[in-house]
Amino acid sequence: EEHTLVLIKPDGYARGLIGEVISRIEKRGFKIIGLKITIPTQEELEEHYFEHKDKHFFNSLCEYMSSGPIVAMVVEGSRVVQSFRNMMGDTNPALALPGTIRGDLARDWGPDRGVENIVHGSDSPQSADREIALWFPEMVD
Ligand code: GTP
Ligand code: MG
Repeated sequence: EEHTLVLIKPDGYARGLIGEVISRIEKRGFKIIGLKITIPTQEELEEHYFEHKDKHFFNSLCEYMSSGPIVAMVVEGSRVVQSFRNMMGDTNPALALPGTIRGDLARDWGPDRGVENIVHGSDSPQSADREIALWFPEMVD
């Protein structure tokens, strides 16, 4: 079965949305096979978001992502990578459609919180393998 790496980001954790996100994953028929709460380190974020390290928002992204606990999950299911991307909605909460996690729950990007959007999901099966090895090394041989 396919796997994806889901993160409930610090705003999702702080706003009490863990149950809501997990509930949507379970109702969709996907299985959570790994789960932990952790505060990301700068080193982990530089690896996780390596493709963004030259972007103008990289520093605020790392500050945001290390500002508190996150919930990291390995989620299993048929075509789960693309399905969970669809469930998340657009990166920018203002563009995310109703019915998606970001479209229903994320707040608009104000000047003070320019990168918040509740959840992360791997963008390809290759990214999922890499990200699962980073956050759940104990699950990979
Ligand atoms: P992730 O699941 O977190 O990887 O989000 P994504 O795949 O929808 O977006 P992407 O990988 O392109 O960007 C990673 C994160 O950087 C986003 O979730 C945002 O938090 C932030 N980000 C991306 N693009 C922008 C942008 O144009 N401006 C700002 N301020 N933040 C951005
Ligand atoms: Mg991404």
